Amino acid sequence: MSTRYVSGPHLARLLGDVSAERPVYAALARSVRGLVLDGRLALRTRLPAERDLAAALGVSRTTVTTAYDRLREEGYIESRQGAGSWTALPPVRMSSAERRTAPPGGRFGKAYPAPDDASFIDLGCATPAAPAIFEEAVAAAVDELPRYSSGPGYEPAGLACLRQVIADGYAARGVPTRADQIVVTTGAQHAFTLLTQLLVEAGDAVMVERPTYPHALGALRRRGARLVPVGVNEGWDIELIAGAMRQAAVRMAYTIPDFQNPTGYLMGADDRAALVDAARRADAFLVTDETFAELAHDPDAPREAPLAAYDTGGRVVTVGSASKLLWGGLRIGWVRTTAPLARRLVVAREPFDMASPVLDQLIVRELLLRVEEVRAERAETLLRARDALAGALRELLPGWEFRPPAGGMSLWARIGAPVATALAETAERLGVRVVAGPVFGADGVLEDYVRLPYVLPPDTLRTAAERLALAYREVQAAPAARPLPAYV
Ligand SMILES: Cc1ncc(COP(=O)(O)O)c(C=O)c1O
Repeated sequence: MSTRYVSGPHLARLLGDVSAERPVYAALARSVRGLVLDGRLALRTRLPAERDLAAALGVSRTTVTTAYDRLREEGYIESRQGAGSWTALPPVRMSSAERRTAPPGGRFGKAYPAPDDASFIDLGCATPAAPAIFEEAVAAAVDELPRYSSGPGYEPAGLACLRQVIADGYAARGVPTRADQIVVTTGAQHAFTLLTQLLVEAGDAVMVERPTYPHALGALRRRGARLVPVGVNEGWDIELIAGAMRQAAVRMAYTIPDFQNPTGYLMGADDRAALVDAARRADAFLVTDETFAELAHDPDAPREAPLAAYDTGGRVVTVGSASKLLWGGLRIGWVRTTAPLARRLVVAREPFDMASPVLDQLIVRELLLRVEEVRAERAETLLRARDALAGALRELLPGWEFRPPAGGMSLWARIGAPVATALAETAERLGVRVVAGPVFGADGVLEDYVRLPYVLPPDTLRTAAERLALAYREVQAAPAARPLPAYV
């Protein structure tokens, strides 16, 4: 049962004008779903009675009943006779049963198998399968494990040998780093959530990029931060960012300077220096998420120095992840910061997970020792996939605009009309999942964008583009939203 309650007038305010679209019940259901998904309506919040919401919205009770029925079918609300309805999330669906089957030639997944024509294509997730040397790295890690299994196995800061390899990686990129400046976490998301615990109080202003990584927004909302979004349009406008940081007195700024998720943009050296300087002047922490930093499509291209290279006062805090370069299933990330803040992070993580799994850390270490091989493999596969997707989109959806990124694993496509949410819904029905622009924004805008990851094989991406083209045509053909006459 639920303990929270949202009144009819309150929910109506959150929903905004749903009656401008037809059918109204579908628009109402979509908006409630959006509020649940982006966290503005907490889970297990009791919804107003149908007649109260109908009155607050100025629509018929049947409209609300039909919208609630649809949400119930989709799993976004649950109801019990006499107890009302409350918000929920649908059960997690295995998006493709075939992911659990081993592809030929190895015990571990080296590439997602191509789906047959009828199977569902999930472009919701931008994360690739494990690299070719994964199996060897696992075997090497298993050989190492007995050296650790005779001890307790809890290492709250992470295994010293892994922290050293990570520190050496920063040193190689021009940022001298000691192992006591590294804390290994259970993924970058865990790292970021811990940082919000330490650096942000409820009500603090936090600058975020728009668009940005949705789960970072989720962590900040949960912390009660006041979000200050700044647009990343053709790239970063550091003057604008510096102004926003000062005016809003931000406590923390969150940036993804390397092949940003979702735009794929890479921040240039001048902007890096200026951004760190802006954080210094605003007296803000600058949390830089390097999840995609090793994923340039040309592994030999000159690399931008990490933001930490421009920092002198310890205000740049770096988050790293094994998920995109190595494998998401390892659940290993890290933070690079000053030794004192690293110690505070270790204390802060203990109530959550105490320490990260030893075997996964050993596997990550083995893979990082061979990181050049992994980078080369990723670069080759992702470049081929990027070009296949870009080619299919240019042919099938010529009105869509995008800039093929020089790294990372997603295209951020401008689709020519503010219909991304409807497109995502229609596409899901036609067998391809994409994430609509508003999910990447703190304030519900970006309806004319979708993110298209290219971690699947080229022929699958082609099929996905064909389905998207069908879905786009269907959405375009739907009657345009009409404003309601004033008396309704
Ligand atoms: C920018 C960014 N940061 C962090 C994460 C989460 O990483 P992890 O799997 O290490 O928790 C992701 C995953 O998509 C991401 O895109």
